[in-house]
Amino acid sequence: MTIGILKENEGENRVAMLPESIATLVKMNVNMVVETGAGLRAYATDAEYVDAGAKIGSKAQVIADADLVLKIQPPTTEEMAMFKEGQSLMSVLNPYFNTSLVKQLAEKNITAFSMDIVPRTTRAQAMDILSSMATVAGYKAVLTAANTLPKFFPMFMTAAGTIKPANMLILGAGVAGLQSIATARKLGAVVYVFDVRAAVKEEVMGLGGKFVEVEGAIDDKSAGGYAVEQTDEFKARQAKAIHDQAVKSDVIICTAQIPGKKAPLLIRKETVEAMKPGSVIIDLAASTGGNCEVTVDNETVIHNGVKVIGNSQLPTDMPTDASRMFGKNMINFLKLIITKEGALNLNWEDDIVKGTAVAHNRQIVNERVKSIIQD
Ligand code: NAI
Repeated sequence: MTIGILKENEGENRVAMLPESIATLVKMNVNMVVETGAGLRAYATDAEYVDAGAKIGSKAQVIADADLVLKIQPPTTEEMAMFKEGQSLMSVLNPYFNTSLVKQLAEKNITAFSMDIVPRTTRAQAMDILSSMATVAGYKAVLTAANTLPKFFPMFMTAAGTIKPANMLILGAGVAGLQSIATARKLGAVVYVFDVRAAVKEEVMGLGGKFVEVEGAIDDKSAGGYAVEQTDEFKARQAKAIHDQAVKSDVIICTAQIPGKKAPLLIRKETVEAMKPGSVIIDLAASTGGNCEVTVDNETVIHNGVKVIGNSQLPTDMPTDASRMFGKNMINFLKLIITKEGALNLNWEDDIVKGTAVAHNRQIVNERVKSIIQD
């Protein structure tokens, strides 16, 4: 079997696999073909891919040779036009928002796996690109905030007087939020954290964060570790608790998301207006609407002196390690679908293979995508 790696579009610095991951696949008896310059923005040269055992080719050559194509961002119109019937694709398709793309893939008889919907099970943890990228984003969000804030993060006692530590509020204690807590604590900030899932309280405290308690959250264990929609009454209590904490904060990092839905609105415009000028909000949920009312995706807005940075693409700013983690996650998934002889073997009884597939045999095979299309 031949696996092809495509170059990402301008603005995406990561690559689906670094040369080190190519070498692992070559040992698994797979032929590798990589688009010219695919790794350059992640500091991996074509020569390094060749040394690892890959061939280099144009986009058209990669797609023509590959039985399975790997890419981070969803395929472009140009790439879709080049795909061959019966080919397979592994990418981050964001399928609940990109239903028409899933439909086109099915119509073209592409077997498509969307790596952002790998089931949240213990066995699938090593393939979970959302966790890997959230780790990068949580870390980068704190560094971006530290760089932007016109104040220190740690407390200092100097001859020029005592500097108070920065107060930070982190909304959402999932993978990104927990990484933000750890990074912010290392830099000396005082960190308050809010999440609707009470289960995370101990983890937050273990990392040195203070948990902001709001009674009455729905914590649905059947939602696979994810948050669920909350009642209006809870939302009102939550809004007050968050407002009271936010106005005391120098930095707010927003990471709260509900998979496949618009992000919960947690910071109102009035709250931003009551914050100290010079404060910073980093909204990692920007691409799904943002946790802050003032957020504009991919933009920095200054509202009443508060800088609101809407950026859900922070992993692209740390392309080497982000690509390294992405590639390792891809390999762990590939190990499930490739035989010892290097052939593709899709076991539809496997919950990970089934749960990650969105299109196969001209059909949309993800129930949630199907129901969104029907609605
Ligand atoms: P996410 O990116 O979907 O959401 C981030 C956080 O926002 C979550 O902790 C969520 O509870 C919180 N949130 C949602 N609505 C909120 C609201 N209204 N107010 C405050 N907070 C709100 O979540 P992520 O980081 O992708 O994962 C969530 C959990 O899934 C993890 O903490 C873990 O328990 C589980 N998980 C399991 C994995 C596995 O078993 N393979 C892999 C990764 C995560």
